[in-house]
Amino acid sequence: MSGIRVLDGVDVAGKRVLVRGDLNVPVQDGKVSDATRVDRLAPTVRELAGKKAKVILLSHFGRPKGRDPKESLAFLAPFLSEKFGLNVTFADDCVGPDAEKAVAAMKDGDVLLLENLRFHRGEEKNEPDFVAGLAKLGDLYIDDAFSAAHRAHASISGIPGFLPAYAGRGMEAELTALDKALGNPAHPVAAIVGGAKISTKLDLLSNLVGKVDLLILGGGMANTFLSARGVAIGKSLVEADMLDKAREIEGVAKSKGCTIVLPVDALVAEKFGAGQIAETVSVDHIPDDRMMLDIGPASIENIKAKLKTCKTIVWNGPMGAFEIPPFDTGTVGVAKAVAALTQDGTLISIGGGGDTVAALAAAGVENGFTYISTAGGAFLEWMEGKVLPGVVPLLQ
Ligand code: 3PG
Ligand code: MG
Repeated sequence: MSGIRVLDGVDVAGKRVLVRGDLNVPVQDGKVSDATRVDRLAPTVRELAGKKAKVILLSHFGRPKGRDPKESLAFLAPFLSEKFGLNVTFADDCVGPDAEKAVAAMKDGDVLLLENLRFHRGEEKNEPDFVAGLAKLGDLYIDDAFSAAHRAHASISGIPGFLPAYAGRGMEAELTALDKALGNPAHPVAAIVGGAKISTKLDLLSNLVGKVDLLILGGGMANTFLSARGVAIGKSLVEADMLDKAREIEGVAKSKGCTIVLPVDALVAEKFGAGQIAETVSVDHIPDDRMMLDIGPASIENIKAKLKTCKTIVWNGPMGAFEIPPFDTGTVGVAKAVAALTQDGTLISIGGGGDTVAALAAAGVENGFTYISTAGGAFLEWMEGKVLPGVVPLLQ
């Protein structure tokens, strides 16, 4: 992507390079349950070590309030060693004498992981003393943590005030993909937005209607739009206080030439849970005692037909209550269609944000999209059109 400083041509040999990763990985029973963030960081670490830099890894983990052994990053050093194919050592602190001693002992090509940044309150508060303590450990700074780019923390927006800053390869790939989706996309562009609530995605919807040609809505938020259009939606989840907002968004969409696509049929059941009897009904005939839990087959076909006319799609949020079958049918059906069009070369597809990655993985399409972001909040803020504090210091 043009516009950000990347690693090409940067002389790193013999330099102490601070690399901000996002090692805030999901852990179950003491083991990393999804290594995607580690895999995305690997190319940068390998490249730097291969070029004989001293690679010093910085990350937060969890949300500790002060030092807490349960949130230590120590357990990750052996895992990173295995994943990177490099020996990764560990230092018990990220600033101060322990960190400084560990860095001073490094040889060219070594990789050192520092303890959880959030053990110090200066990290989240971006305190100058803490920033200075981090910055003195390095000669250069590389940010490879797009998924934390919405945090104006010391290790993200502080250090670049002291050291030359560059995007790592993961950050570069992420920003390149995102630019293709909303920055400088091939039109027509569709956004597929699902999830339960409009209220949490108001900024996102408002930004999208000004940028995309088609806004395809599913999940609980589609119910609120249907209800705002006067459709009787039975017992379906609805945000009654958002009906005016939904109408307002529809109005803006119309004025900007963005078509909003709502479900035409739905899978309904008495309640959300396993073993429910699901029926397909048209949205005009939702029984009073039933709730919509997924989009129906005609909606899936309708979306597929629309996607065939598009060149770019960006996706956030599932189409239904995908955690329990058969209410994953809509999400899986649309995801597979997107993946097929992507593989045919007719569509550029970008997905991301919290639940979305899990939903797309459950649909088995994680390799079928052009790019799937590992970011939750950062992806959403980017979709909202916000300038991310982690990206600003990397701009040329
Ligand atoms: C994430 O997991 O979304 C990022 O690592 C940011 O973590 P945070 O929400 O605790 O700041
Ligand atoms: Mg988070």
